[in-house]
Amino acid sequence: MINIKSAREIEIMRESCKMAAKTLHFLSKNLKIGMTTEEINEMCHQYTINRGGIPATLGYHGFTKSLCTSLNEVICHGIPSTKDTLRDGDILNLDVTTIWKGFHGDTNATFLIGNVKPEVKKLVDVAYECMMKGISVCRPGAHMGDIGAVIEEMAHGHGLSVVHEYCGHGIGRKFHEEPQVVHVGKKGTGPEMRPGMTFTIEPMINLGKRHCKVLNDGWTVVTKDKSWSAQFEHTILITEDGHEILTQFSPEEWTEADDKI
Ligand code: MF3
Ligand code: CO
Ligand code: CO
Repeated sequence: MINIKSAREIEIMRESCKMAAKTLHFLSKNLKIGMTTEEINEMCHQYTINRGGIPATLGYHGFTKSLCTSLNEVICHGIPSTKDTLRDGDILNLDVTTIWKGFHGDTNATFLIGNVKPEVKKLVDVAYECMMKGISVCRPGAHMGDIGAVIEEMAHGHGLSVVHEYCGHGIGRKFHEEPQVVHVGKKGTGPEMRPGMTFTIEPMINLGKRHCKVLNDGWTVVTKDKSWSAQFEHTILITEDGHEILTQFSPEEWTEADDKI
């Protein structure tokens, strides 16, 4: 069953999603070559709890950190570590999920560290376009399969591949709920979108082949061929006449207080 959120629940989702978006933006502004992903984890944790939020990944099915940090060939679910240092030319995905008044907001983005090779920058740009293209087809009456169809078409058009095993998801009181949002597929298939649905779109796009494997830590998902991978994620709401991206804020909503941990 796909949950339809009430007007009150949607109001809270707007808040939790804005909190996640602001946290992600704060972290992106504070990235530096030489920093470890554990330092990013500490910033994320403090930023979130200082505002009354809860980092959703902490303790989630045994995950021990307050966000996921996925470098280069890591597709998703990278674990922050004192051993992973940002280097010139890296790409780093930060995936932030915040719980606020019992509701989740989930967003991620891939950032360029220093000077990145042109083909890698193109990968990151296309991954962003894939997410936005997927969002653009969301409206009442559209089908969940429409999202995967446009994402797959865009990625393949650029000679890139789409990860199959990890998906977007319904979100609300639960971190992951129905529906599953597959990033490949066929137009007109899958459940119909209805006003009040909230779900994420979070395509993972690889420079090489689509195949992945999980490392021995039980979490870190990497490409099998070691090619680099990029991802972007927004939480969206289906409205009466289209959609609303919940995990964003306008520049005038960023205040001086938002720049402090
Ligand atoms: N934030 C991820 C998502 O987009 C899920 C991370 S779960 C964790 O769905 F346990 F790996 F943190
Ligand atoms: Co998600
Ligand atoms: Co996420």
